Amino acid sequence: MKKRTLAALAPTAALAGMALQDLLQKEHALRHNFPVIARMRYLLESIGPELRQYIITSNDSERPFSRDQRRWVYTSAKKENNYFSFGTDNDTETAAYPIIKQATFSDVVPASPIHGRDIEVPGAKVLGGPRGRRHAFRPASVVNVSAMSFGSLSPQAIEAINKGAKIADFWHNTGEGGLSDHHRQGGDLVYQIGTGYFGCRDEHGNFDLDRLVDVVGSGPVRAIEIKLSQGAKPGLGGHLPGAKVNAEIARIRGVEQGKDVASPSRHTAFRDVDEMLDLVERIADATGLPVGIKSAVGELDFWQTLADRMDDDGQRGVDFITIDGGEGGTGAAPLVFADHVSFPFRMGFARVYGLFAERGLTDRVTWIGSAKLGLPANAIVAFALGVDLINVAREAMFAIGCIQAQKCHTDRCPTGVATQNEWLARGLDPEQKSHRLANYVMTLRRDLLKVSEAAGVRHPAMLSPKHVEILDGDRGHRPLADVYGYQEWWGTPGPEIVDEIDAYMRRYDDLPGTHEVVEHEPLKVAAEPNQATE
Ligand SMILES: Cc1cc2nc3c(=O)[nH]c(=O)nc-3n(C[C@H](O)[C@H](O)[C@H](O)COP(=O)(O)O)c2cc1C
Ligand code: SF4
Repeated sequence: MKKRTLAALAPTAALAGMALQDLLQKEHALRHNFPVIARMRYLLESIGPELRQYIITSNDSERPFSRDQRRWVYTSAKKENNYFSFGTDNDTETAAYPIIKQATFSDVVPASPIHGRDIEVPGAKVLGGPRGRRHAFRPASVVNVSAMSFGSLSPQAIEAINKGAKIADFWHNTGEGGLSDHHRQGGDLVYQIGTGYFGCRDEHGNFDLDRLVDVVGSGPVRAIEIKLSQGAKPGLGGHLPGAKVNAEIARIRGVEQGKDVASPSRHTAFRDVDEMLDLVERIADATGLPVGIKSAVGELDFWQTLADRMDDDGQRGVDFITIDGGEGGTGAAPLVFADHVSFPFRMGFARVYGLFAERGLTDRVTWIGSAKLGLPANAIVAFALGVDLINVAREAMFAIGCIQAQKCHTDRCPTGVATQNEWLARGLDPEQKSHRLANYVMTLRRDLLKVSEAAGVRHPAMLSPKHVEILDGDRGHRPLADVYGYQEWWGTPGPEIVDEIDAYMRRYDDLPGTHEVVEHEPLKVAAEPNQATE
């Protein structure tokens, strides 16, 4: 009897042991938040390729990010083997598909045959340089983390991103929710001003320049981004339910605790391009920082007027323009906005860039792109179209644990990334995930450099439309320049900027190991090579 009782208790004890182990480990937020149950996910994930072979979906059919794309981010973040074998499983001839053209001969020496992750790939342009801002600077990284506010992301996620920014030397955009203590982990910041002016508003919700000066002076803020719109919900204000407005969020945003916070759909501090440019100059004068705008692309009147004004007077101008694609992400948005309002990145970017290129103004602006650009091929096309830097949001979320459960709007994010629920957020270990994010960004930078070198240039900003063709889905192909109506010289910075960045990157030409075959540490192979989970 006693033996039987013991035997009956054994499975319970084993489960309790597993649960304890899951609760105490720090590597997987999912296992911490859903002890034992989460293991099923890992099991299914590990036999996923075999299952999918016969019954379920393909590696490329999931959206917004395919299994292959997520697997690439997860394995890069864990410094595991992020290679794929047996050739592409994409249907390259029957979908609109970018092809990057490698150079057979080139005098570009690869930065290193083994391509360490720690190669620096700084921005090609000095941010704020053309307008002589007091704190103009060269961005240390061509890859940076896009705006995601504290409120939409958990405190732990914000800490992980900011620590990652310090490790891999990229910047971390605060998003429109203000600057919290979680942002102060040593990483550089870009402060975003949204229509709610959180963190820089007076008691009536109006923009307050003095408060802005105070808040940006209180942290390592390198630049200021005025958000006009974002791709997933352009022209729509934000809404943070009162339940999420805890004391900390209320203090940081300058709003009342427990009350719903609605941010208007448009700015009240300016009503047209002239007023916007005046404000840009006032902010830049008061802070000394480069000031730019972020927007998705809809009607073109705004951009035409902006380019005209910058062309006319030369006394006012934005230091950078971040173009977000309609396919961009958000914490929450109505379906029609996410699906149908504003152009996808490439189309939107090309239209705006073209307006500035026609007026010879592209070198006066640092061009930043976002919307699924945290994947090497997408990023390369963006660089070929003329971006100088890319911002990544959801890909950074993958690196810190997101599994694309798409519950960000419910406050029940299972991995603790996009929630204010303390239990769920506690499963995310900021220290460990910061290294994963840093690994991912460094891997992406390295891949961008590798592809640039393969195409015969030393830096991604030197890629031009001539390096890319688009297969048109009907066994035809068109040069990138034709698809987006680019003229001969569009897509790269002017010769002075190119020479400067080329000279900078040449310093890697003579690094040890550049010219000879060297022994190097083998790639760490994942315990489960096909595992695509956080
Ligand atoms: C959870 C979440 C919160 C976001 N919050 C902001 C924000 O506060 N301000 C903003 O301009 N964009 C915000 N975005 C949009 C991103 O900054 C980015 O422009 C967009 O997701 C495209 O980049 P991606 O494809 O790399 O995700 C948010 C996106 C996500 C996923
Ligand atoms: S795991 Fe799901 S809910 Fe959490 S951040 Fe990712 S998509 Fe959003």
